[in-house]
Parts: sequence; structure tokens; C-alpha cells
Amino acid sequence: MSTMAPNQISTNNQRKKVTTRFFRQKKASGEPITMLTAYDYPTALAMDEAGVDSILVGDSLAMVVLGYENTLSVTMDDMLHHCRAVARGARHALLIGDMPFMSYQVSTVEAVRNAGRFLQEAGMDAVKLEGGRERAETIRQIVAAGIPVTGHIGLTPQSVHQLGGFRPQGRDISGAQKLYEDALILQDAGCFSLVLESIPARLAKLISKKLEIPTIGIGAGVGCDGQVLVTHDLLGLFDRFTPRFVKKYADFHGDMVKAFSKYIADVEAHSFPAKEHTVEMADADWETLVSEIGE
Ligand code: KIV
Repeated sequence: MSTMAPNQISTNNQRKKVTTRFFRQKKASGEPITMLTAYDYPTALAMDEAGVDSILVGDSLAMVVLGYENTLSVTMDDMLHHCRAVARGARHALLIGDMPFMSYQVSTVEAVRNAGRFLQEAGMDAVKLEGGRERAETIRQIVAAGIPVTGHIGLTPQSVHQLGGFRPQGRDISGAQKLYEDALILQDAGCFSLVLESIPARLAKLISKKLEIPTIGIGAGVGCDGQVLVTHDLLGLFDRFTPRFVKKYADFHGDMVKAFSKYIADVEAHSFPAKEHTVEMADADWETLVSEIGE
């Protein structure tokens, strides 16, 4: 019997497709689940090659790629467009499409239809939506349609105006109790995993212990069953603001500015393109051309 976890590189170098079942197995074995956001083909390709368990095409797209102030402006069409690009790049990771603002709040019927579009038209394996007990019936219906759902509680950016800003949640007793109850309700509604965003670490650890489904933390401490980060934060590509919980693994914005400046300087100095970047034609053809049209 193989002792290899389902997403490990096997002897023939073929990593298996990650499934929701694998999420449960990882929770049971105490191995952390890794998740990152992606919005395009080359990033998905690199992440998949690195071996990430899951890729979330987050509605953070609105801010880190499309330049909006918050996530409220992003549409189903925007999301599906970027999901398709990610699906073309990732073969192994479990792909989760983030349902945008107003795609699941108006009616359950609309929510199920929109959730289905992520799988049917955009190559996703599951969807994520924000909210607690008020989303239970919607989640139940989406799951009943055969679509795996990740819940998302704590700081839910689509409710930024209701929450009074991007601020940590569950820091007092009533907030913490409500989050705990919401987590149980969402598990009961059929979520296969639950994102906990920006809540106290010990509360996240307790919720993770009490739930059977895995929790994926962002700004929720090391006691969650897995972790997710917004890739543009991790790569240092988005520096309008950086939440305290982000660890920057690179400075891609700085690297881009350096590369672009170097290119501009090379062009201005006529040192790009050089001979090795240039195509030539045969001397005889050149002579004929010049004799015909002059230099
Ligand atoms: O949209 C997103 O990137 C998210 C993560 C922060 C979990 O929802």
C-alpha cells in the first residue's frame, strides 16, 4: 500500500488532481492545506508546478488586478473570464471560483445558476461565497445541485460598508460566539471547507478543532487546517496597502520597475535590440532590393 499523500509527486512524476476528499484527508492527517489566489494563466501554471493544493480565483481580482477600491465592482463576466485563464494553466490544484457581489444574494435560484456557470463555463471545481447563517439555505441548494462550496466568514470584504471597513472580526464575546455558530451552520449546510478571514488566532484554532470540515485561514493564525494568501500581496505586486497578516516573499513591483527602467534606458541608448535579437536577410536579396529602390 502506498503511503504517499494523493498530491505528492509519484514515481512517474504525475501529481494527481486534488479533490475535496483530499482536503478532508489532509485535515484528518493534520497536514496543512495550501491555497493561493490566481487570476491568470502563467501564475496558475507556476503555482501548479510548485505543488499548491488549491487555487482560489478570488474576487480580490477587483483590487489587485483591476484596480478597483474594493471587491464590489467585479462582475460574473469578469470572474468567469479570469477563471477560464486559470483553468487553462492548472491541472492538479483544486480550483475554486469566488462568487462576486450580487451573484448569490438576490435569490437562491440565481445563486445556483451562477454557481453552475463557474463549473460549466469556466473549468472550476468548486465555488466560494461569503457570509454566515444568512447564506445557509443558498449553500444547501448549491450543494444539492452537486457543486462543492467553500464558506467564508470573519472579515467578508463584500460587506465592507456594513462592517465599517476592512477590520478584524470576532474580537469580543458576542462576535466570537456568532462566528462559532456560523461555522457550525455552514458545515451543516454542506460546505466542504471554510475560509476564516482576519479573526483572533485562538478563536480560529478552536473553530478548526470543533469542525469536521477543514478551515483555511487568512489572518487567522497557524491553528487553521490550511492557509490562503492573496498572491499579489505575497509577491509584493500590490503595494497600495499590505495587511498585517501578509508575509511578502518577493518584491515583484520593485523588480518590475527596475526591469522597465532598464528597458527604457536600453532603447534610449540604442543598445536594444542587439544583433542577437535581430533578423537578417540574405546579402544577395538585399543587394537586389537596394539596386531596385535605392538606399
Ligand atoms: O478574494 C479573495 O482573494 C479571497 C481570499 C482573501 C480568501 O476571498
